[in-house]
Amino acid sequence: MNYNKKSVEDIDVKGKRVLCRCDFNVPTKEGKITSDKRIVAALPTINYLREHGAKVILCSHMGKPKGEFKPELSLKVVADRLSELLGVEVKMSKDVAGEDAKRLAAELKDGDVMLLENTRFIKGETKNDPELSKALADLADIFVNDAFGSAHRAHSSTAGVADYLPAVCGFLIAKEVGIMGKALADPARPFVAILGGAKVSDKLNVINNLLEKVDTLIIGGGMAYTFLAAKGYSVGTSLLDEEKIDYCRDMMKKAEEKGVKLLLPIDTVIAKEFPNPIDGPIEVETVPSDAIPEGFMGLDIGEKTRELFAEAAKSAKTVVWNGPMGVFENPTLAKGTIAVAQALADSEAVTIVGGGDSAAACEQLGFADKITHISTGGGASLEFLEGLELPGIACLQDK
Ligand code: 3PG
Repeated sequence: MNYNKKSVEDIDVKGKRVLCRCDFNVPTKEGKITSDKRIVAALPTINYLREHGAKVILCSHMGKPKGEFKPELSLKVVADRLSELLGVEVKMSKDVAGEDAKRLAAELKDGDVMLLENTRFIKGETKNDPELSKALADLADIFVNDAFGSAHRAHSSTAGVADYLPAVCGFLIAKEVGIMGKALADPARPFVAILGGAKVSDKLNVINNLLEKVDTLIIGGGMAYTFLAAKGYSVGTSLLDEEKIDYCRDMMKKAEEKGVKLLLPIDTVIAKEFPNPIDGPIEVETVPSDAIPEGFMGLDIGEKTRELFAEAAKSAKTVVWNGPMGVFENPTLAKGTIAVAQALADSEAVTIVGGGDSAAACEQLGFADKITHISTGGGASLEFLEGLELPGIACLQDK
């Protein structure tokens, strides 16, 4: 797909009303934002627009309110945080593209910023309803999409609105696509991808697409057990995607044909039961991955595997990582995920982390500034790795 899109720098925004779609779908707890990373990531575009005299109308979704007003999913918390970060008042409309939004948009002066209420409070949003797309477009002269995290959604505010306005990308989308696009199209080699997470079925196309591009593919986390089963090993009560065993066999064959090194866990941390509570105490032992006993489940990669995976990451020139290696919410079972995060932080390679859990692990461990790029996208970065066209980017003007 063509990712060479016009950006805010290719269009005159002075005095124009600019509708800027961001991904302000931030985590909250008891009405407070617990990570403002996605808001901070949108600041370069917002600042650029303000400095260049645009009247900025920001919009985003938050959560899944399914077309109804839900006070706990109001973007008011985001407006407050934005006001603090920008040092100016960010007014928020009570509606998405109704009378209040129109009134506030009309009052904007050059350099002012406002925020629309949660786009998913309107049913039409997730249906990409042209009526809502048109109503959003009527508020502005230009559409800027900077919501990389939502670029895999063909919704009114991410894609539909581009049917009615000149549409370009912001700096965040340009950066995400620039770094990840280069890694996939023209990587410095050796190129190593590390995939984890619970289910093989979530990553079928990612595995398939990455096997076309990488020198080494590393599989850890819950999905590794289906690969181990495909090798004929017994995996006890470990997570198993039985229907995908043949698929894993096909992928192992494909790796061999393509000359891609496929690394699976060689030792596994096992327990009798899944921890309950998830972060509670748990008794574990480590066994070779081809000898998981009956009645035991694998919950993390073992020490030898950690060394094997870390070595591969350290000697690479490009590393892409998506998905935890074990039940990283539990301190006893987080060692594999921590080891991978550490290996990326220590590596001289271009390191790219996509997906909520692995990104959170890098941040919690304080490694974020040692990673070349931590994507703000979860689903979006996965679809990008799958080689899919992202509708929120496809709809923008080509350069
Ligand atoms: C995300 O958090 O991945 C994006 O904001 C998209 O959210 P969604 O999965 O609810 O569409």
